Amino acid sequence: MKFVPAGVVPFVALLLLQRRPVAGRALLLSGSGCPGHGLCRSNVQEQTRRQVALLNATAQELFSLYLKCQGEPFSSESDKLCNPAGIFFPAFRVNRTSERKEVMVAMYKLFAFLNASLGNITRDQEELNPMAKELLERLHNTTKTTRGLISNLTCLLCKNYNIFQVDVRYGDSSKGKSAFKKKQQGCQVLRKYVQVIGLAARVLLPHLSPS
Ligand SMILES: *[C@@H]1O[C@H](CO)[C@@H](O)[C@H](O)[C@H]1NC(C)=O
Ligand SMILES: *[C@@H]1O[C@H](CO)[C@@H](O)[C@H](O)[C@H]1NC(C)=O
Ligand SMILES: *[C@@H]1O[C@H](CO)[C@@H](O)[C@H](O)[C@H]1NC(C)=O
Ligand SMILES: *[C@@H]1O[C@H](CO)[C@@H](O)[C@H](O)[C@H]1NC(C)=O
Ligand SMILES: *[C@@H]1O[C@H](CO)[C@@H](O)[C@H](O)[C@H]1NC(C)=O
Ligand SMILES: *[C@@H]1O[C@H](CO)[C@@H](O)[C@H](O)[C@H]1NC(C)=O
Repeated sequence: MKFVPAGVVPFVALLLLQRRPVAGRALLLSGSGCPGHGLCRSNVQEQTRRQVALLNATAQELFSLYLKCQGEPFSSESDKLCNPAGIFFPAFRVNRTSERKEVMVAMYKLFAFLNASLGNITRDQEELNPMAKELLERLHNTTKTTRGLISNLTCLLCKNYNIFQVDVRYGDSSKGKSAFKKKQQGCQVLRKYVQVIGLAARVLLPHLSPS
């Protein structure tokens, strides 16, 4: 049995995140930067499956609860106000026949973006709806699962493809925006997330089936 030193994974995750977005272009570099063996736990594939399935299973409830907690006009006009057409969200153009490597990279970009977005949404909700305990708890849980997933994807990318650097494009920070804009940005992101996580689950899960 191999012992995995606790410091290794966060170090790699940090490496991955240090490259800032280049105006929407994704640049992949692979080389010799992956740490040696022992980075991944033996059940990493199974963990990844479970995390994606859990996020998919809880996304809709998170969105519905989010809407409910924003009050009017969000609860009654969500179709209009939460239309995600105008926001940046990572493209997710992979499908079942895409190469596994492409799928993993697209997943990484998606969940790194989601983690940053959840950070903004949580900060805003703590300020705007501090009494919405269940919403805050769901946001924390989703963030925690997302971070675990990112660390597992980091390890799979390194181990299987020697990819240790992925350029991620992030959305706009909501800092300094009006309360209305903060609520709106959160609902646009979460609504799009519900759509994309369903697709991600359909595409990724078959790629991770026990083989
Ligand atoms: C699946 O994605 C690949 C690129 O990853 C693309 O070339 C192919 O046309 C797509 N297939 C379908 C059925 O959409
Ligand atoms: C997640 O986002 C937070 C900002 O909210 C950032 O500090 C952290 O490094 C990110 N973690 C990962 C694994 O991307
Ligand atoms: C808010 O979002 C921006 C852009 O995605 C990101 O850089 C920043 O870390 C996020 N802030 C928090 C507190 O997560
Ligand atoms: C958050 O996660 C904890 C631990 O897994 C769980 O007990 C709790 O029910 C979750 N809360 C919500 C609102 O989903
Ligand atoms: C993978 O996910 C599990 C469950 O969240 C977590 O305990 C583990 O630290 C993650 N990362 C790796 C590299 O196994
Ligand atoms: C994703 O979640 C939806 C809603 O809970 C569910 O209907 C669907 O079967 C899930 N997809 C996968 C691939 O698990």
